[in-house]
Amino acid sequence: MLHRKARPLQEAQSHLGGIPLVCNQVGYHLNDTSIESEVLPFAKRNGITIMGYSPFGYAPHVFGAKGFPDVGSQERHILESIGAKYGKTAYQVALNWVLRQEDLVTIPKAAKKEHIVDNLHALGWELDKGDLEQIECFFPRCIASQGERENEDRFFLALSRSQNQNENCPQFAHSSR
Ligand SMILES: NC(=O)c1ccc[n+]([C@@H]2O[C@H](COP(=O)([O-])OP(=O)(O)OC[C@H]3O[C@@H](n4cnc5c(N)ncnc54)[C@H](OP(=O)(O)O)[C@@H]3O)[C@@H](O)[C@H]2O)c1
Repeated sequence: MLHRKARPLQEAQSHLGGIPLVCNQVGYHLNDTSIESEVLPFAKRNGITIMGYSPFGYAPHVFGAKGFPDVGSQERHILESIGAKYGKTAYQVALNWVLRQEDLVTIPKAAKKEHIVDNLHALGWELDKGDLEQIECFFPRCIASQGERENEDRFFLALSRSQNQNENCPQFAHSSR
């Protein structure tokens, strides 16, 4: 699944005939926290695991993705200064921040061995309240990119088409009565 709203998850669940919906894969990183308002609480209430993709914000194929803050930018500086307290890099801070959410797993992509090792060391420690507040100031709450919203629109279009087809299908009309 790839849904940033609760309604499509409910719709999807209703089409599964009692089979539980267990996972929703959706973007979650410092520059896109749109799932926090609706989807994350809904998923927690309903036992659905959120699989957050692009934890560093790259998603090169998603229109409007910003990527990781550039070296020298204010945002990068704040991540580096927080990381310095713990002997961690800016990337490790970003990954640890994503994983502060319970019931959420993340899937960083790393081809380089040193990145894979770095990412493992993003675990096992916690950002404190002050760190989280600082991060909040520099990374304002943000909405989904246009590409992701279009993905969701396409899902609804496909769903309504399949429903219309089913309604026009005598076999389905018979079995659903
Ligand atoms: N369901 C969907 O629609 C959807 C959409 C987008 C992405 N995804 C999935 O999400 C996963 C990750 O997404 P993504 O590749 O878009 O973005 P990402 O994980 O946010 O970023 C990957 C980039 O970060 C670099 N990187 C990783 N660890 C690093 C570290 N410790 N220090 C410095 N750089 C580091 C990687 O470099 P190297 O590779 O050179 O190590 C790579 O360039 C993929 O499996 C992808 O298939 C799913």
